[in-house]
Amino acid sequence: MKPSINLGFFTEDTVKAVKRRDVMVVIDALRCCSTIVTALANGATDITPVKTISEARRLKKKHPEFVIAGERKGLKPKKFALGNSPLEFSPENVRGRRIILTTTSGTKAILLSEQGKWVLIGAFLNARAVAEASLKIAENEKTGVSFVLAGKEGQFSLEDFLCAGAITESFPPGKAQLSDTAIVSLLSFERARRSLKKVIQRGSHAQYLKSKGFGDDVAFCARMNVFNIVPFLEKGRTVPLETFT
Ligand code: MLT
Repeated sequence: MKPSINLGFFTEDTVKAVKRRDVMVVIDALRCCSTIVTALANGATDITPVKTISEARRLKKKHPEFVIAGERKGLKPKKFALGNSPLEFSPENVRGRRIILTTTSGTKAILLSEQGKWVLIGAFLNARAVAEASLKIAENEKTGVSFVLAGKEGQFSLEDFLCAGAITESFPPGKAQLSDTAIVSLLSFERARRSLKKVIQRGSHAQYLKSKGFGDDVAFCARMNVFNIVPFLEKGRTVPLETFT
């Protein structure tokens, strides 16, 4: 049987997908997942997603060598070394380093999925690689693939939906059974693809980031297939899936 490709919008959908033992693909294109992909591509050892700022600070106290990073309302919290701009996660800043990351919605979505056997991190930046990896794992495990869209504080977000479509487009034709929602994400992506950056820039979170001076982040995150890295969750940390790096 072909793996089913599922896309839900609600927390219950994620809970059900975990119960089905689907391969979870968490998407937060602006910016958490793009930041994780970039950090690992630039040589970070691993990234530990945590829910709250105080948890991040506690972990940093326990492991002073870790880099503490993240955002609230898009901005770097007090005394954090890095914010959530993928551009800050340069080789100079992250190579060989272990990172603690807390963001408003992205790290929460990852942690919501953490009971899944396989939790992969998806973005436009690694769309093709994450499609290949997730389908291969789903075939091996005889299960489906479920997208988890981080959105913005519980709300639907344009760029995450389009990113699900971008990943769906990379599944080889005829190899997967798309749900109706996955088909709509694919159709939307096909419509947006030719001016993807412009379409993403129209979204409310992109507009917000621009207003805070992060317009370059939006342009950076709107690029397709820049990295082959597929981050996955292993013992609470995101690390690169070796076979796909
Ligand atoms: C989030 O996790 O809510 C986002 O990554 C927010 C941001 O753009 O920093």
